[in-house]
Amino acid sequence: AERTLVLVKPDGVRRGLSGEILRRVEAKGYTLRAVRLLDPAPALLQKHYAEHEGKPFFEPLVEFMLSGPVLAVVAEGEGVIPGFRSLAGATNPTDAAPGTIRGDLGRDWGTKVVQNLVHGSDSPESASREIALWFPEL
Ligand code: GTP
Ligand code: MG
Repeated sequence: AERTLVLVKPDGVRRGLSGEILRRVEAKGYTLRAVRLLDPAPALLQKHYAEHEGKPFFEPLVEFMLSGPVLAVVAEGEGVIPGFRSLAGATNPTDAAPGTIRGDLGRDWGTKVVQNLVHGSDSPESASREIALWFPEL
């Protein structure tokens, strides 16, 4: 079945929103296949965000992702890859529509990198690559 990698980023975990975010994934009808709270190693984040290496926000992004524990989740269901992206909303919480995770729960905090609560894989190729990185045992 189709699977995606969802991350509750350090801002989401810190603000106590992990349950609310997982609730929305489950309420939509997706299944939680694996869940893990971890302090990601820098090497894992560099691989996860390899496509952004060299961009001006790369270092602040990795630093932000190292600022606290991350909840990594494999969610499953038909259409879950685009479906979770649509639950998450636009990258910038200021622009994200109400009804979405970023639109309802996020805002601009004036930080160097936008803190937008969640990550979701953007394609089937990204999903398999990212699930292998965060859940090597699956
Ligand atoms: P993810 O689900 O986290 O991958 O977000 P996304 O797919 O909506 O965004 P993308 O993969 O393009 O970028 C990854 C992360 O980098 C984003 O979630 C932001 O935190 C940050 N980011 C992306 N683009 C910009 C940008 O133009 N400026 C800044 N400051 N940060 C950015
Ligand atoms: Mg992305």
